[in-house]
Amino acid sequence: IPSLKDVFAGDFTVGTAFENFEMNQEADRKLIAKHFGTVTPGNVLKWDSTEPQEGVFDLADSDAAVNFGVENGQQVRGHTLIWHNQTPGWVFRDAQGNRASKELLYQRMQKHIETVVSRYKDVIDAWDVVNEVIDASQPDGLRRSEWYQIAGEEYIEKAFLFARQADPDAKLFINDYNTHEPAKSQALYNLVQRLKAKGVPVDGVGHQSHIRIAFPSLQEIDTSLLKFAALGVEQHITELDMGVYSNDTDRLETFPDTLKKQQADKYKALFELFRKRKNLITNVTLWGKDDGNTWLRSFPVNRKDWPLLFDERLQAKSAYWSVVGTPAPP
Ligand code: G3I
Repeated sequence: IPSLKDVFAGDFTVGTAFENFEMNQEADRKLIAKHFGTVTPGNVLKWDSTEPQEGVFDLADSDAAVNFGVENGQQVRGHTLIWHNQTPGWVFRDAQGNRASKELLYQRMQKHIETVVSRYKDVIDAWDVVNEVIDASQPDGLRRSEWYQIAGEEYIEKAFLFARQADPDAKLFINDYNTHEPAKSQALYNLVQRLKAKGVPVDGVGHQSHIRIAFPSLQEIDTSLLKFAALGVEQHITELDMGVYSNDTDRLETFPDTLKKQQADKYKALFELFRKRKNLITNVTLWGKDDGNTWLRSFPVNRKDWPLLFDERLQAKSAYWSVVGTPAPP
């Protein structure tokens, strides 16, 4: 069967997120090596994994994940340096258990970024420096995370500056979800514009793109891609998947043919759109490869979902065949 990365060679690189256990399973390993030109470790580069206790770096899992990409000849996307989730509580507290000062916070931030980014500077060519910092309902468009509460917008600038210092060659991204929503897209746009005006080294915008079959429309996605083109930033689709439900309560035991067809059609149209916008988009990464291993089976509730291109048995789905543009074998 055709390899995804070959089908889109000349358009953009195609990637997948993965968990370390997949490296130890022959079938998973082969599928990842065959189809993807880039990989994103799904969890092991996050702060709670790399430095669970202050000053105690545990880089065995991240080393293994990054080496896996190297062995496959793949580029590795670094995900993610600064986030409000999966960050140990100690980061935000001082020795007395009070809220850490800005100075202490920046010291820790610099140490974290310097350690992780410089360690992988020969391999990781793009970093999600900050993740999910936007809250469009706030007047300044910024999420009231602990980072923000201690340091305000400045923490975002610092993160990019520290990352640039640690690796002058890596592409530095700001990554977020629901970037197709007009208010969110505008808030993100405004932030990137402010940062660039100050000379903060933001190279790219990452659109997570956790979408559904029912929404958003391709038109909404396209509008957002075109909007960011005006800022002259590179764009990556960083976490693509397509959940089958349109709400948080439905539950299906099997994947109905009608939905299969709708999903395949939407995936096809989506990749056609990405191809049309290949001058704006340099990488499209799926948040996983197979339906047996997707965060959507535990979020927002435990239920089956079928958001990816391969099924639980790692067989190509209708969505895969429609994306590569070859009729499915009978
Ligand atoms: O590693 C532990 C394991 O030791 C333990 O036994 C098990 C029991 O719960 O949990 C394991 O950790 C889980 C981890 O994934 C690794 O599988 C965490 O509970 C679980 O919360 C964590 O979920 C991750 C999630 O981020 C957490 O925020 C997902 O795998 C990961 O796909 C997801 O990725 C995020 C992106 O980083 C940012 N954008 C949204 C995306 C989806 O939520």
